[in-house]
This record gives sequence, structure tokens and C-alpha cells, in this order.
Amino acid sequence: MQTFADLDLPYLALDEREFALDPFPHFAAARAAHPWLARCAFAYVLTDYHAIRELIAHDDKMAVGFGGAVDLMGAGGTPWGEFVKQSVQVQTGETHKRLRDAVAPAFTPREANRHRGLMREVVTRLLDEWAPKGAFDFELFASHFPISVMCRIIGAPPETAGRLRASLEVLGVGGSFDASYLPKLQEAFLTVDGFARELVAERRASGHVGEEPDLLDRLLEITAEGGLAEDELMNLLVFLFAAGYDTSKNVLTHIMDLMLDRPEPYARCAEDPAFCRKVTEETFRYRGVASAPRVVLEPFDFRGYRVEAGAMLFLPWGAIGRDEHSFERAEEFDPERPPKPPAVPFGLGPHMCLGQFIARAQIEEGLHLIAQRIRNPRRAGPHGWREFLGVWGLRGLPIEFDPAPAKAQTHGA
Ligand code: HEM
Repeated sequence: MQTFADLDLPYLALDEREFALDPFPHFAAARAAHPWLARCAFAYVLTDYHAIRELIAHDDKMAVGFGGAVDLMGAGGTPWGEFVKQSVQVQTGETHKRLRDAVAPAFTPREANRHRGLMREVVTRLLDEWAPKGAFDFELFASHFPISVMCRIIGAPPETAGRLRASLEVLGVGGSFDASYLPKLQEAFLTVDGFARELVAERRASGHVGEEPDLLDRLLEITAEGGLAEDELMNLLVFLFAAGYDTSKNVLTHIMDLMLDRPEPYARCAEDPAFCRKVTEETFRYRGVASAPRVVLEPFDFRGYRVEAGAMLFLPWGAIGRDEHSFERAEEFDPERPPKPPAVPFGLGPHMCLGQFIARAQIEEGLHLIAQRIRNPRRAGPHGWREFLGVWGLRGLPIEFDPAPAKAQTHGA
């Protein structure tokens, strides 16, 4: 049976800066040359929506390939490299399940909805501080929001968000696996890890103080019962801080970028929370931000080819929402489009994003309140782009706008 190596495949320069400026025409051109497979510098890239959905049925024979990427960067054995290799996302089988099960109850749809009030409170406080300025870098503003929510869910004190923001910003570029970032990545990891250790020591010393147990209480209980090793506990905390930082922030910034050219839908977001949900979902499809590699552990057959153990595959979850073979008018941003087929910005299978309900809820709630307080936003300067690999997004988004006072809230949690 043939392998992917026997194919003459189009090349995608995913790791080059130019690619991040507009990744979608490159994917479309690759699909024109081969309907579902391309190559990049380090892997075979699945470029078709249905091919990715089919491939994920074999995820039990693969591992998330960040461990290999760390070794390729020469970061194996370093603190950051080992953090990545030991992280929940990179584990397989029973270990993966045990780590995921430890945190999963805090991330159900019900829990996400329970936190909607908290999300509104956090974004309102931020808007009270930032909206009167009349102009700011929207990405910088947005960078304070999801991490503040994540801190509250974990049970970290509110000042944590400000204290860790710069380090989380650095950890966010780790997914690009650009070796030039290594010194900064090590430093940032040690800061966040040191903070997680301090947080745990303080909680152990003082016990829980709030009304209900939080995620940290739950994780400490599991650790005390032997369900998590001490290093696994620390790794999970650092991973959650990092995963809760730039993903939602980048999507929120994409939304503002899209809305700057669409004043009518933006104005509607201020009035209609259900429409905010549609804008959020359409942005996930139109400008998904996350992708992930896989390394094949056991060979399997796929679409008439043998996929060998050791092969590296790349799943551009966020980019296949523009696959023109699966989505009608794929290049049109239309919040009213039917929800089928569903985009898959959070992946599928055993590693599907644990934070998806939190992410959806906080982006929807954030957008609704932002649209009320930041009226008639306009571009106030150029912006850059983040690397496509890892968590794609804008780098900076200067805006000016007409500030408006807070409205009384009309919808419940
Ligand atoms: C818009 C926001 C977000 C997007 C687009 C996103 C996307 C993704 C994707 C695509 C994956 C799966 C990657 C794979 O196939 O290997 C993933 C995994 C994960 N995400 Fe998210 N994510 C977001 C927000 C969050 C948040 C807020 C958290 C909060 C803690 C989070 C926690 C995780 C975790 C723990 C995993 C690993 C799951 C596992 O391997 O079992 N994510 N995310």
C-alpha cells in the first residue's frame, strides 16, 4: 500500500511570518492541487474538513505531537520543554484520561453558564477603567479579560492576572515552536510555575476561604487522595493559566477587527445577546485560531494509504472552517449562516478543548458589554499578526471610539 511519502503534495509554509497575514488562500490553493493533503516543513497537513473529521477516528493511535516539536527545537530536558511534554494535552491513554478527568468537572456547559455573572462582572470592571479613554489597543485591553476569569475559576487572587499577564503572553508564542523564543519561554515558564507553587502552598496553609470549593480545592483534594502527583498538579495549573489566556483573547480581538468594518452587526451586538453568540460562532469558523500536530504511534490505513508509525500530521482546526468544499460561501462572514456543518475550532476526539464552553460564554458576554460601552469603533493605526502555528491572531489593534456609560443588565446568568 502507498504512503503519503509517495504523493506529490503542495507545500504550505505554515511556519513563515508571511503565511500568518492571510492563511486561507494558501489552504485553498493547496486543496486545488490535492483535495485533502499537503506538506509543511515538519508534517503532512490535512487541508479538508471531512478528511480531518475522518482522521480523528484514529486519534487513539496518535499522540499530540508537541513533544517531538520540543525536541526539534532542542528544548528537551529544559523546564519549559518538560512542561510541554508532561502537559495533559500531550499525554495518551490512561494518564491523559486521569489528568483530564481531574479538571473536567470545572469546565462543563453548566459550570460555564454558572460563571456568566462573573464574566460580566470582570468585563464591566475592565470597561469602567478602559472605556473612558476613548482610544486604546484593543488586544491589550482584551488580554486582561479571559485570564481574570480563569483566575477566578481556579481560585487565584484577582491581582494574579496582572502579575502573570506578561509571562502568559510569552508562553502563548510557545506553540509556534520558533527556537529563538526559547530563553524567554524558559523565563516565563519559571515565573508562572513559581506562582502556581506559591498559590498551592498558600492554599494548603490557609484552607479555602470562599463560600463554595473552587477548582484549586478540588485539585488539592485529588492530590491528597493520590489521584495526582505534585508535579502533575503544578503542570495542570500552569497549563490552565496558559490555555485560558491567549485563545479567547485572540478570538475577541479578531471579532473587533471584523466588526470595525461591519458597524451594523456590531451595533446589534450591544442590544442582542443571541446575536453575539452568532457572531462568536461565525468568527470561530471564519477566523479560527488554534491548530495542533499529531505523531502517529501505531500504523493505520487512511483513504487508501498506509500511515506509518512516527509520521507527523498537522491538523489546522481553525483554518478548515473556510474549506470551500464543505462550507457554502466560505469566504463570506455571515453570522446568520446555518449552523451545519459545524466548524470545529476546538478540535474533536479525546483532546477536544476542555475550555470550549468557558471560551464561548466569555466571548459572548464580553462582546455584548463591549459593544455597549465602546461605540462606533474606528481603526487608529496599523496592526500586526501573530504566528499561524500555535494560537493565531492579531498583534495589537489600535482603535478609537465614542465611550458610552454602562447600561443596566437585562439578561440573567
Ligand atoms: C477560543 C478559545 C479556545 C480555542 C479556539 C481552543 C482550541 C483548542 C483546540 C483546537 C484544542 C485541541 C487541540 C488538539 O487537537 O490537540 C484545545 C485543547 C485544550 N484546550 Fe482549548 N481552546 C480555547 C480556549 C480554552 C480555554 C479557555 C481553556 C481553559 C482552560 C482551554 C483548555 C484546553 C485544554 C485543557 C486542552 C487539552 C485537552 C486535552 O488534550 O484533553 N482552552 N483547545
